[in-house]
Amino acid sequence: LPDAEVMVVSNREPYIHNMESDQITVQRPASGLVTALEPIMRACGGTWIAHGSGSADQLKVDSSDRLGVPPEKPSYTLRRVWLSDAEQDGYYYGFANEGMWPLCHIAFVRPNFRTSDWEHYVAVNRKFADAVVAEARTSNPIVLVQDYHFALLPRMVRERLPDATIVTFWHIPWPNAEVFSICPWKEEILSGLLGSSILGFHTQFHCLNFVESVDRFMECQIDREHSTVSASSGTTLVRPYPISIEWPPAALAGQPPVKECGDLVRKKYGLKADVRIAVGVERFDYTKGIADRFRAVESLLENHPEWIGHFTLVQVAAPTRSRLPAYRDTQVEAETLVQSINARFGRDDWQPIILAATHHEPDAVFTLFRSADLCMVSSLHDGMNLVAKEFVAARDDDDGVLILSTFAGASRELHEALIVNPYDIHAMGEALHIGLSMPDDQRRDRMRLMREMVGEHNIYFWAGRMLLDAARIRKRRHIER
Ligand code: G6P
Repeated sequence: LPDAEVMVVSNREPYIHNMESDQITVQRPASGLVTALEPIMRACGGTWIAHGSGSADQLKVDSSDRLGVPPEKPSYTLRRVWLSDAEQDGYYYGFANEGMWPLCHIAFVRPNFRTSDWEHYVAVNRKFADAVVAEARTSNPIVLVQDYHFALLPRMVRERLPDATIVTFWHIPWPNAEVFSICPWKEEILSGLLGSSILGFHTQFHCLNFVESVDRFMECQIDREHSTVSASSGTTLVRPYPISIEWPPAALAGQPPVKECGDLVRKKYGLKADVRIAVGVERFDYTKGIADRFRAVESLLENHPEWIGHFTLVQVAAPTRSRLPAYRDTQVEAETLVQSINARFGRDDWQPIILAATHHEPDAVFTLFRSADLCMVSSLHDGMNLVAKEFVAARDDDDGVLILSTFAGASRELHEALIVNPYDIHAMGEALHIGLSMPDDQRRDRMRLMREMVGEHNIYFWAGRMLLDAARIRKRRHIER
């Protein structure tokens, strides 16, 4: 696609500028979407349209709300879109995160759908569609639409740029048709997404759920042989594209050797040399099974007391969407649990769980990954989960054990992880014991295979497959003319 114009649309921006005690700082957000897409944009160039959410974002843009990024070596344009407080409440916190997020994750948090949130969601989708049209320099750009914040935008763009190639990627799961029908605006959501030329999910299972939803609620032609859905707005190819990470990841450059990372982390958290380290890294989200993971640590110490004093879980959990009660409750529950487990088993010089509830930049996360004997990903439901892949990428020493939830998309690819059901606390505790006791050669064999998998199926492979499908659609359209 040598001369195609590439545009990304997402809610979350790749760089957030904040004002901190009279200084402007730049933060890279904790977002699997950003982790995956940013290297692609660095490689392709183009325009990334996203919500300007930082307190100093307005100070960094030009008069057209644009900014060259990455800050150290600009290679693409970030176009910031501003949202009012009411828009953020209705579109982001309300419809996207209190409606679509729990709906799609089936995480036993009741989805809330309010008409006023929906109205903001429609209006903000239109605002971003306007930005796409305004930014487009050609009549047929490739527009990469990201995630559940923008289900309506593909159709809105299609109506105004009929020749655009719209590639939408849904980063979270898609539920079955019965669950999906909870959404009062199900037809509008489906019809909006069917404005896409390509609609991607992480797994075939989510594609089938989507097609089943279309079958139940829309008048469309479904071609199961070719995985396409044809509506009045055109034909959409619905395919799985399991997302991945940059290989080797930028955060790996400049990392000290593994042994040194271990020393740094032990010093930072006051861990003695004979304490084995497990890590957990995520946003404080109720879908991630953080409390369940803590209960698994408790189960390990109950059933295998030999680990008391010799094992610590370092859990990094970045506060997220804290304006929503379900998120505040998740954090409070986890903090209370840590206190009680530490009070029960801890000693003056040792704690079983260390909870660092702050944002960590990628470099710090990678040092932590490299220091660990074991990484725990216990999502109750997750589209892919890139933390699992980042842990594997961080281990260029071929060591470390991954414990991975069967309900994360990543478990379909990382077969050599210890796959667990996060609802089975006892089994997760046992997996910790097995991981900590695993012989060296078995650990390395497993890690090598996982590294081969992620190295090969990296983010360029993901983007390559999507863009190749996009190129085919463009050529076909050219011939049909
Ligand atoms: C998930 C979503 C992304 C989102 C990220 C962080 O990975 O799929 O769209 O950016 O969570 O959440 P936030 O609401 O802070 O952007």
